[in-house]
Amino acid sequence: MIYLDNGATSFPKPPGVSEAVARALANPASPGRSGHKPALEASRIVFRARKKLAGILGKADPERMVFTPNITWALNAAIKGIPLEKGAEVISTALEHNSTARPLRELEKAGAIVWKKIHPRENGLIEAADLLPLLSPRTKLLVLNHASNVTGALTPVEKMRRLCPDVPLILDAAQTAGAYPLEDFARHADVVCLTGHKGLLGPTGTGGLWIRPGVDVRPLAVGGSGSNSESLEHPDFLPDALEAGTLNTHGLAGLAAALDYLEERGIENIRRHELDLAGVLLGEAEGISGLRILGPSGNLENRVATVSVTLEGYSSSDLSSALESGYGIMTRAGLHCAPLAHEASGTFPGGATRFSFGPFNTPEDALAAAAALRELSGKRRAV
Ligand code: ALA
Repeated sequence: MIYLDNGATSFPKPPGVSEAVARALANPASPGRSGHKPALEASRIVFRARKKLAGILGKADPERMVFTPNITWALNAAIKGIPLEKGAEVISTALEHNSTARPLRELEKAGAIVWKKIHPRENGLIEAADLLPLLSPRTKLLVLNHASNVTGALTPVEKMRRLCPDVPLILDAAQTAGAYPLEDFARHADVVCLTGHKGLLGPTGTGGLWIRPGVDVRPLAVGGSGSNSESLEHPDFLPDALEAGTLNTHGLAGLAAALDYLEERGIENIRRHELDLAGVLLGEAEGISGLRILGPSGNLENRVATVSVTLEGYSSSDLSSALESGYGIMTRAGLHCAPLAHEASGTFPGGATRFSFGPFNTPEDALAAAAALRELSGKRRAV
C-alpha cells in the first residue's frame, strides 16, 4: 500500500504511539477525578499531553490548551463561544472546511451574523489585501483556515492579522499542525484549533483549542469537571470551563508520544520533507495529458503537501478507485467536506482526487503516484 491520504488522517503513526495507548488502557483510571495512584497517573498523562500540545505554539500557556474530541468540536466551541453582538460581521476565506463553514452558516441562517468570504485569486492563493474591502467597524471575528485541505494553499494569516490586529482571529490549523511550524501562532491568532490525528500523528478522538489570555470563549457543554463539585455552576477557569466530561486519556497518551516524535524529528524538517515530495509529484505531473492540478502552482512555499487533481475521462472517485486497484495508492476523492473550496476551484460538484503526503512517505511514493497518473491518462486516450 502507498498511503497518500494523510490529509484525512496520518498513517503510519510514529513508533511508541500505539504502545502509549496500550499502556494507558491498562491503567484503570479517570484523570482529575479520584485521588488514587492510577487516577493521578491518568492526570499526569493528560498534563503531559497538554503541555506538549501547547508547546507546538511556542510559549503558549498549557492551562489555556483545552482538549476536545476533534477539531470540528474545537471550531464549533470557538465560533459559537466567542460572544458576538447580533448582526456582527464575520470574515472567513472561501476555502473553509465544513467544520468552519457549517457553524458560520448556522449563525448566518439564524440572523446572528453577516458572513463575508475572501475568494482566492486566479493563482489559487488568498491575498491578504483582499481582506481590506471586507473590513468594517462591524467586523467582529475572522475565522481562517491556515491551509486548504483541498488545494493545499496556505493563507497569509500573519499579514491578515496585521491588517486588523484588534479583530479576534480563530485559526483552523487542521492541515498545518505538525506539518508547519506554529511557534509564532500564539501571537498571530486569538484561538488556535488543532486536531491530533493528522499532522500531529496521534490517535483520532484527540484535538483541542488554545485560547489567548483575555479572550472569552463560553462553553458549548457543561457538566462534570472534577472541580468545584459543590456548585451547580460549571467552573469558569480554563481548561475546566471548556472540558465538561471525562477526557480521552488513552488517545491523549498516544498524542503525547506522537508529539515526542515530532520534537525529535522537528516540524520544520517534516515540512521540508513533505514539500519535497509534493514538488516531485507536481514536477512529474507537468505535461500529463488531461491532468489539472488545483491550487497554487510554482512556489512550493505557498502550500502544504496536499495536491488535488482532476483527470479528463475520470470522475474523481473513478480515478481514486483506479489508483487503489491498479497501483495500491490510497487517495481521497470527492468534495473533501469542503464544498466551498471546490466551488472556488471550479470542481464543484464532481470534486477532485487528493494526494496528501506525510512524514513517512518517500520520493518513490511520489514518483509512483505520478507514474500511475501518466499511465491512467494514456489509458483514457486509448479508449
Ligand atoms: N477533513 C479531513 C480531510 O480533508 C477529514 O480529509
